[in-house]
Amino acid sequence: MTDPHDPSTGSGPDSLTDDAAAAGVSRRGLLGFVGAGAAGLALGAGAGLAGGVAVARAADTGAGASAYDFYGTHQAGVTTPVQDHLHFAAFDMMAGATRADLVSLLEEWSYAAARMTRGLDVSATGAVGGSPMAPPDDTGEAQGLPASNLTITFGFGPTLFEADGVDRFGIASRRPPELHELPAFLGDDLDPLTSDGDLCIQACADDPQVAVHAVRNLSRIAFGRARLRWSQLGFGRTSKTTAAQATPRNLFGYKDGTANILADDREALQDHVWVAAGDQPAWMTGGSYLVARKIAQLIESWDRVRLAEQDRIIGRSKGEGAPLSGGNEFTAPDFEKADAAGAPAIDMAAHVRLAHPAHNSGARMLRRGYNFVDGNNDLGRLDAGLFFLSYQRSPEQFITVQRALASDALNEYIRPVGSALFAVPPGAAPGSYVGAGLFA
Ligand code: HEM
Repeated sequence: MTDPHDPSTGSGPDSLTDDAAAAGVSRRGLLGFVGAGAAGLALGAGAGLAGGVAVARAADTGAGASAYDFYGTHQAGVTTPVQDHLHFAAFDMMAGATRADLVSLLEEWSYAAARMTRGLDVSATGAVGGSPMAPPDDTGEAQGLPASNLTITFGFGPTLFEADGVDRFGIASRRPPELHELPAFLGDDLDPLTSDGDLCIQACADDPQVAVHAVRNLSRIAFGRARLRWSQLGFGRTSKTTAAQATPRNLFGYKDGTANILADDREALQDHVWVAAGDQPAWMTGGSYLVARKIAQLIESWDRVRLAEQDRIIGRSKGEGAPLSGGNEFTAPDFEKADAAGAPAIDMAAHVRLAHPAHNSGARMLRRGYNFVDGNNDLGRLDAGLFFLSYQRSPEQFITVQRALASDALNEYIRPVGSALFAVPPGAAPGSYVGAGLFA
């Protein structure tokens, strides 16, 4: 197929980006020989080497249903129907990296992301089309695999704007006023090694290999400018963003995502998810704020709890997912209703009561989390949990709900071990890159 984004096709709509990416492609090819210290030299010397043919990985590459456009008003991967697999990664800029390094990184990431989401290798020469004397541009493990609904979503952490009082990239004055490290919450047992970061990438796909390929290749492109700080694999989405998707289950066995904000609820998206024109700063209009929380679930303890008690803790039934006040999964919970003994049908400490907008001044969020199992600990217990991801117009929405969850009956069975907040800029226009407005 013809690839309008391919450097070999000349004046495609994103030819500006192509130049940067072409340089990046060659730079990486040469780095294998000259090392990171000579990156500047390699960049100049290699800029003319890009070319060749677009490397399509599979027959259905770019075909509608299995691929989402990377470019658009909003970044894909927020309201996109939640895919089955996740690879999430947080990065830190390297010591000494400059503003130019950051901009070129975002340009090259956007270019590569636009290709990979269409089922293409990261560059025109890709995994096998380059010189046999150089490391391939693309690592190759996604050859033969379709786009698999891959979405790649980029975010900026508070430390990108200012770290230890230093404005490394000349963007401190453009920092969103609300973009600060999240406050400490009751029960937090955070590991700095799985928290925070200057940048993040959320890669979601219906094939885990496609998601991992995306993060691996974007990490590789970052070489010499940013390094991986932490990453998380997720399987089994714990949410849904369209009414057509069946509600999935989390590792406690409960339907999760029943009361989520859905992609076709334009009013809710406008009010609760997308940063609106008039919100500050203007470059975030059409963006969102992403909260990532790694929450360990104490599976073995939970599995010894009686079913009725599990239902009481959640506030919904395990089978149907109906609120304990009655009805079916989609019946609105009635928090005033009493049971036969006169007690609240939905317990005062039930998770859904405390998380509900009615008890949080109307605060809502779009949840997009995944289950994770990272093996087991030395006591023979699963190292498992929920990698909670939520998008909101302001971090304050999450903070309000999380504070309300201080008295959640669920807290006995969960432990937040990682935490991060990122500003997710709006989508890039074809020919531009994610975050361009920040540097304009
Ligand atoms: C391991 C931790 C958690 C588990 C197992 C869990 C589980 C659930 C379940 C089963 C539901 C009911 C189904 C639904 O409406 O989606 C639910 C609802 C909800 N949860 Fe969680 N949750 C966890 C953490 C969190 C956190 C950290 C937040 C935000 C701070 C949160 C916010 C919500 C919200 C907003 C709802 C919908 C409430 C409503 O409008 O009815 N949850 N959760």
